Amino acid sequence: MNTEKKRVLVTGATGGIGSPLALHLASKGYDLILTARSEKNLSELTKSIKKAFPERTVDYSPSDFSKAESFEKILKLVGDSGVSGLVLMPPQPDPTTECFPDDVTWQRIFKESFIGPVGLIRALIPELEKRVRSKVVLISGISSLQVFGNYSTSSVLRLMWVGQMKTLALAYGPKRIHFNTLSLGGVLTDEYMKELKADAANEKTSIDALLEKEVANVPLRKYAATNEVATAVEGLLSSFTDHITGWNIPCDGGFTRAY
Ligand SMILES: NC(=O)c1ccc[n+]([C@@H]2O[C@H](COP(=O)([O-])OP(=O)(O)OC[C@H]3O[C@@H](n4cnc5c(N)ncnc54)[C@H](OP(=O)(O)O)[C@@H]3O)[C@@H](O)[C@H]2O)c1
Repeated sequence: MNTEKKRVLVTGATGGIGSPLALHLASKGYDLILTARSEKNLSELTKSIKKAFPERTVDYSPSDFSKAESFEKILKLVGDSGVSGLVLMPPQPDPTTECFPDDVTWQRIFKESFIGPVGLIRALIPELEKRVRSKVVLISGISSLQVFGNYSTSSVLRLMWVGQMKTLALAYGPKRIHFNTLSLGGVLTDEYMKELKADAANEKTSIDALLEKEVANVPLRKYAATNEVATAVEGLLSSFTDHITGWNIPCDGGFTRAY
C-alpha cells in the first residue's frame, strides 16, 4: 500500500472551481499548496481551509503563468516536503468568434494558457519523479473534444493540450508520472450563478426556468455542481488512475456525442 503523504499543488486555486476543489481535497486528507495571482485571495482561502480542517497543512504562493520567475517560491514550497500531484488550471481565454486574433493577442494567450503552465509542469518533474505514482490532472473544457465557434482560441489551445498531455503520458509513464485531463462542460460556479440570477431578473423569469432551457441539450439535464467536479478530480488523483494515463475524460453530463 502507498503510505506516502498526499500533497497536491492546485493552480487557479482561488477560482470558481479551484476554491471548492481545494476545500474538498482538504476534507479528503490532502495537504495543499495553492497558487493564483492574487495574494489576498490566496490568504483568505488558506485561512478558511485551515479553519475548517486545522489538521491539514496548507501553503500558498502567488504566481502568474505569464511570468516563469514567479514559480520559484512554489518550487521551494514543493521542495520542503514534496508533492504527489498537480491540478493544473490554465486560464481560459475570453470567448471569441475571432479565428485570426492579431499576433500580440495570440502571443499573450499562448504564453498565459499554454507555455507558462507547461513550464510549471517541466519545473515540477524532478519532484514528481520522486514519488511512487504522481498524478497530474489538467482541467480542460469540452472544446478539447469538439469545436465551438464562440470559443475559437480556446478550441485551438485545448487541442494543443490534448497533444501535450498524451506526449507527456508517453514520455513519463516509465517514470510513473500519470497525466490525465478532465474536460468540463457547464459548471455551476458562484460566478455563473450570479450571471444567471442577473439574466433571470432581466428576462423576468426564474433561475430554474432559465437553467432548464440551458440544459435541454445535456443528456443528464444539468450542469455540474462544483462538488461533482471536485469529486472527479479527486478520483483522478487517487489510486483509481494507478493504471490509467493519457486519458481525456468529459465531465459534461453526456453532452459530447463523439465516440
Ligand atoms: N467554469 C466553467 O464552467 C468551466 C468550464 C470549462 C472549463 N473550465 C476550466 O476550469 C478552469 C477554472 O475555471 P474557473 O471557472 O474556476 O475560472 P475562474 O473562476 O476565472 O478562476 C481562474 C483562476 O485562475 C487564476 N488565474 C487567472 N489568470 C492567471 C494567470 N495568468 N496566472 C496564474 N493564475 C491565474 C485566478 O486567480 P487570479 O486572478 O488571482 O490569478 C483564479 O484562481 C479553467 O481552466 C477553465 O478553462 C471552466
